[in-house]
Amino acid sequence: MATDRGTFGRMGFILAAAGSAVGLGNIWKFPYITYENGGGSFVLIYLAAVLLIGAPIMLSEVLIGRHTQLSPIGAFLKLGRTAFGGVAWSAVGWLGGVTGFVILSYYSVIAGWTVYYFGKCLSWSLQGFSSETADGLGDAFGAFLENGPLQIGFHAFFMIATVTVVSFGIRSGIEKVTKILMPILASILLLLCVNSIWSPGFGEAIRFIFHVGPIRASSVLEAVGHAFFTLSLGMGAMITYGSYIGSKQSVPRAGAVVCLFDTVMGMAACIVMFSIIFSVPEAERLTSFSRSSTILFTTLPRIFYDLPFGALLSPLFYLLVALAALTSTISLLEVVVSYFIDLRGWTRKRATLIAGSAIFLMGVPAALSLGASSALSDFAGVGVLGALDYLASNWMLPIGGFFIAIFTGWFLDQSLTRRELESGHGGSFALFGVWRFLVRFVCPLAIAWIIWAVVGGRSFA
Ligand code: PHE
Repeated sequence: MATDRGTFGRMGFILAAAGSAVGLGNIWKFPYITYENGGGSFVLIYLAAVLLIGAPIMLSEVLIGRHTQLSPIGAFLKLGRTAFGGVAWSAVGWLGGVTGFVILSYYSVIAGWTVYYFGKCLSWSLQGFSSETADGLGDAFGAFLENGPLQIGFHAFFMIATVTVVSFGIRSGIEKVTKILMPILASILLLLCVNSIWSPGFGEAIRFIFHVGPIRASSVLEAVGHAFFTLSLGMGAMITYGSYIGSKQSVPRAGAVVCLFDTVMGMAACIVMFSIIFSVPEAERLTSFSRSSTILFTTLPRIFYDLPFGALLSPLFYLLVALAALTSTISLLEVVVSYFIDLRGWTRKRATLIAGSAIFLMGVPAALSLGASSALSDFAGVGVLGALDYLASNWMLPIGGFFIAIFTGWFLDQSLTRRELESGHGGSFALFGVWRFLVRFVCPLAIAWIIWAVVGGRSFA
């Protein structure tokens, strides 16, 4: 029945999967949650989570996708049939689809901010950045957040861009766009990273990122949740992309490259952000960072214009963030769209248009929860957008990942998983035993233990 699916060409998977992984999670979220969770220890737990939980689940997802040539719901329906538990396993696919829907609805709102700031920085670069503009940055961002029509407008703009790329399909949409964007993105971030070596805050930034101190249980959940979020795991994005590759591609190699690239990009973003942040005197830092999630838009532009080449770097930086977000949103939409193509037999155009519109509508309350509507902004103490992000990254993704690990480790035939990991990898995969041990024991136990500890209000300190 799969009519309008498509396939990746050579390198297409790696670029698209890396594009999915590197996004707002690396550039907007990772630095600010590292800041909130005290730096070094958080980074260390995150790195351990990437290696011990993220990487093995990445291989699991890609192998499920490649083996079934189906997106998450179809893949679990098909594989579940012969496993204990039967079609109930398709619930994992459904959870993934719903999670993709939820994440994209608010992710696109934040992605819209980066487009707005790209435009703003461009005009500051052209017209001059005055001290008045610098003083009013925080207020200007606050006013922008409270402006409902603008929030909805930029959210709509980003959804339209996403729908456009996805509607062109795997090879001429997703692969083509990521092939152009990924090298640009990596070069800009590298340039900024090298540039930050000369900033006065560089030394302190490095100390902060690598200084290990005490850690709370909630921070461990946050670090593990972030590992899932930043690697696009736990909801089947990698199952979906894996379903577009053939048996000649090495799953372990592709998975490792994506994990490594994502981690390097996240660390680079941290170095860039903290070098800038620590260039500001401490007293000022404490007052202006009262809401650390907004550093990217309130403090950063001002500091940019004090840096050498700042007028050039600042619009470039927001362009980078917007592009990184776009290569992620297309993967989120593709998960939802591929369900309608695989299981409902819809054409790609119809599926993208309908799914994209529904997700846009679902994002409207999130867009209005930043001050435009007080009821939505006060929801659950953090507003609709904050609540959706917390729910999706810290709960839905780790729970999805838990079941994906259990399924590949305990319910899929060992010879099947071995074959999938070895084919395209020279016929043997030396770390197969390690991978299997991690997905059977380490991933599920670690996730279950962390959730148990957080639910019970326990502390690891
Ligand atoms: N990995 C993306 C980021 O870091 C977000 C994402 C999550 C994309 C889940 C797809 C699936 O921004």
